[in-house]
Amino acid sequence: MALNLENIRAQFPVLHQEVNGRPLVYFDNAATSQKPKMVIDAIAQYYNKENSNIHRGVHYLSQLATDKYEKAREAIRRLLNAKAVEEIIFTRGTTEAINLVANCLTRSLFKPGDEIIISAIEHHSNIVPWQMACEQSGAVLKVIPVLDSGELDMDAYKALLNEKTKFVTVNSISNALGTVNPIEEIIALAHAKGALILIDGAQSVPHAKVDVQALDADFYCFSAHKMYGPTGVGVLHGKKEILEKMPPYHGGGEMIKEVTFEGTTYNDLPFKFEGGTPNIAGGIGVEAAVRFMEEVGVENIANYEAELLAYALEKLKEIEGVQFIGEAKNRAGLVSFNLKGIHPYDAGTVLDKLGIAIRTGHHCAQPVMDRFDVPGTMRASFAVYNTKQEIDVFIAGIHRVKQMFG
Ligand SMILES: Cc1ncc(COP(=O)(O)O)c(C=O)c1O
Repeated sequence: MALNLENIRAQFPVLHQEVNGRPLVYFDNAATSQKPKMVIDAIAQYYNKENSNIHRGVHYLSQLATDKYEKAREAIRRLLNAKAVEEIIFTRGTTEAINLVANCLTRSLFKPGDEIIISAIEHHSNIVPWQMACEQSGAVLKVIPVLDSGELDMDAYKALLNEKTKFVTVNSISNALGTVNPIEEIIALAHAKGALILIDGAQSVPHAKVDVQALDADFYCFSAHKMYGPTGVGVLHGKKEILEKMPPYHGGGEMIKEVTFEGTTYNDLPFKFEGGTPNIAGGIGVEAAVRFMEEVGVENIANYEAELLAYALEKLKEIEGVQFIGEAKNRAGLVSFNLKGIHPYDAGTVLDKLGIAIRTGHHCAQPVMDRFDVPGTMRASFAVYNTKQEIDVFIAGIHRVKQMFG
């Protein structure tokens, strides 16, 4: 189905402005996406008319805010095809979701000598919490290497798995390379060894249909701000039977049933993991973001972005001196590259002067940059409101960069 791009773009106020005297071309969507008016309006409506704390009050506004917040949880359940809302835990984002799991399992599962497997192409937020878990528990971190193509070395992964493997975690799409990892196979192999597995879906949920029941990972997480929603809110999906066995994370209000000085009993799922007043406006904004994605159609988004990526790759390949970093067969959403002899930072600065926003640097994945022996890359990442005409402007910008520094 052809998307009504004019209609889609009209919903994003931020796109309709000039930057440095040129129409804004926003290709930094892997860092954070822009927000449609329905998300901005839902948040404004909450603060204008509905602001109240949730789950505690008998009064009208509290009940209204509670209903809206819980409606967001149901929207996420629907988006992920999760079994139950009890499995949907609101967090501040992907980073907090991963830290939650790492922290709780450090206190309840990991023992000295256990092994935790991550991959060589993780975001720092899926590396550092596991290094901390290993430091605290005596577990050992193992890393699945990446091939020159940007794909994970699956033979090496199979060789790393053994009876000491307690936990595996990988991203579904690498934010630094765009590689789509074969997570179905990675999950099945982890389970065959009796290990738990977490999928960092930060770069997947905004771009493709995710079905957590079909995937069968034990944990799946993402951030709302990369999927047209607000910052400061994200989701951890966990299997109910596993979440029930885990100790809580933050102690405080909301996550308790009864508190006495002799001891405390914890609340039921999902509230056991949601200590303190949550980001209520953020949750309400997420509900609108899910509605936006459903209205456009998640499959339509995926297909259209694949078209944009193919077009950008075709155009970039025609430019002499373009060096792709990561050329996996299965890629999504973004292209990471360098221009021979030109520092990515210099290129990014020139593009900015032309109104083009791309990301330059290590993309919070320094080990990936070390592996490919580059100081950083230029990364253009796409969302459903981007157009082929914008890619043409970007390609003209790359030619300008080459003229200046080439
Ligand atoms: C693959 C991946 N994982 C984790 C994160 C961290 O997300 P957040 O900063 O929203 O917690 C990002 C953000 O860029 C990401 O791309």
